[in-house]
Amino acid sequence: MTTDWLAWHRDYEDPSSQLSRRLVVVRRRVGESLDALGADARRVLSLCAGTGGDLLPELAARPRLSPETLLVEANAELVDAARAAAASAALDHVRVRCADAGRLASFADVLPVDLLLLCGIFGNLSGRDIQRTVSAAPGMLRRGALVVWTRGRFEGEDLRPTVRRWFVDTGFDEVAYDGEPESYGVGVARWAGPGPGGREVPERLFTFVR
Ligand SMILES: C[S@@+](CC[C@H](N)C(=O)[O-])C[C@H]1O[C@@H](n2cnc3c(N)ncnc32)[C@H](O)[C@@H]1O
Repeated sequence: MTTDWLAWHRDYEDPSSQLSRRLVVVRRRVGESLDALGADARRVLSLCAGTGGDLLPELAARPRLSPETLLVEANAELVDAARAAAASAALDHVRVRCADAGRLASFADVLPVDLLLLCGIFGNLSGRDIQRTVSAAPGMLRRGALVVWTRGRFEGEDLRPTVRRWFVDTGFDEVAYDGEPESYGVGVARWAGPGPGGREVPERLFTFVR
């Protein structure tokens, strides 16, 4: 990893930053997803979770839902921050694991899940790794599960329509998409196919290139 992810998170301190505006949308979509799942939100997984600012407040706002939740994050300081946020919101059902989220072994014990967050990941992967992750996702999900994902528009490259298509081509239904005119893209996809049985998830889903 070459990016300073602690510094990257500082943009959240400025409410007018692009990242903060994206967070508002991600939180709204995460909250809607939890509401739509209701009691079926039994397990939640967030990969490359950062401080959990997109998921933890939405869980805290829904005390009647207490899904077994795992956040996987590689940066130890961000893990500490996420653990502190979960503890201060009394989210006893949330665990934060310091591990490489690109490895299946880092979260295989909680699969299949009902809500999967893939936020702030796709902008740091090769197209091939994004596609591998999208097509492997059904093997990680229960029938009816939801995936909240993000991908930004880069200068000279807008992969957002391609990522949306990859989800649909994999067999997901697109529930929501927020993008233009903003440079972020936030998608929600539902897996309406059969549960994970028989679908193999590769040992390595992705490796960050930034
Ligand atoms: C772009 S940030 C996104 C954080 C959060 N999901 C968000 O949207 O605010 C990427 C995060 O992935 C973490 N990360 C990078 N490589 C990772 C890996 N292999 N496994 C787990 N986390 C990783 C970084 O430390 C950073 O917190």
